[in-house]
Amino acid sequence: MVDLTVSIGALKLKNPVMPASGCFAHEYADAMDLSRLGAVVTKSVTPKRRIGNPVPRVCETDSGMLNSIGIPSSGLLYYVDKIVPRYKAVAAPLVASVSADTADEFAAACEALSVPGVAAIEANISCPNLEADGRAFAMSTHDTERAIAEIKRHSRVPIWAKLTPNVTDIAEIARAAEAGGADALVVANTLLGMAIDPETRKPKLGNVMGGLSGPAIRPVIVRMVFQCARAVKIPVIGCGGIMTGEDAVEYLLAGAAAVQVGTASFLDPAAMIGVIDGLREYCERHGIERVAELTGALRIDAGLSDRWLRLAQQSG
Ligand SMILES: Cc1cc2nc3c(=O)[nH]c(=O)nc-3n(C[C@H](O)[C@H](O)[C@H](O)COP(=O)(O)O)c2cc1C
Repeated sequence: MVDLTVSIGALKLKNPVMPASGCFAHEYADAMDLSRLGAVVTKSVTPKRRIGNPVPRVCETDSGMLNSIGIPSSGLLYYVDKIVPRYKAVAAPLVASVSADTADEFAAACEALSVPGVAAIEANISCPNLEADGRAFAMSTHDTERAIAEIKRHSRVPIWAKLTPNVTDIAEIARAAEAGGADALVVANTLLGMAIDPETRKPKLGNVMGGLSGPAIRPVIVRMVFQCARAVKIPVIGCGGIMTGEDAVEYLLAGAAAVQVGTASFLDPAAMIGVIDGLREYCERHGIERVAELTGALRIDAGLSDRWLRLAQQSG
């Protein structure tokens, strides 16, 4: 029997696989036993009701998809009242993802979300910061550290900081989130992209630009997980293009302690179960007793010094 349990700080998970925010809802119970998941992560909730972006909100691309959903939300009160109780019977910790317009609003929302039934909060700091002209919080070390510190001061559950890959140096953002007090990092949200229909000459998304997800982004995010895991001591949760157990192994070897699955669930609603089973099979095949042993177990030639890796990251 393979031990699939992992720890994200004080939180013990029965396995390292959980949904990516926005790519999952309670209705997935029709396709799988939700209690088999390591954790359940819900769609980002915002303090107040929001309707989201103009349509079309999604389009398919080579090996992935673009979305500009814009975080439609029923608001915090509805979430705490109606969504949290729905997961009471699910034997997997509930992680509430939250987005807000300012650091203070983030902090107030996280205070309101620190209720029984919520095991951790994922702060989606990849969203626009209205106090910085709409630049995402996680595009700046200062805004990242400040938002996370405010959130920590007001919450009573562990805080995971979800970073954006749309930065030059993700390691410095990871360090800022850790300095702010984050208990874990989620690396990462979608990569900014754009697609145009040559026939109509129009952008394929109503919002013109959107977030790229799916297998197309996996090599980029695996690289970022590798960089973040070397930069911080807190656990890193990898997210980007995971379709199979072996894709999840790739993230664990790069340094992730757990993984999130997003776009794959749109192709196959039971994809996360396939990832869990695939992880177990990989461990059995390789004689690995505890999946946690895989975290950071990448084999790099001992001759490759940190200086070489620094140069590699600059030259590609
Ligand atoms: C349709 C859609 C909606 C999303 N909504 C959210 C969201 O509300 N909050 C968030 O933090 N990330 C959101 N994401 C990003 C995913 O959680 C994830 O970070 C990203 O899709 C990369 O993982 P994947 O390649 O496995 O999909 C969304 C992604 C998609 C495709």
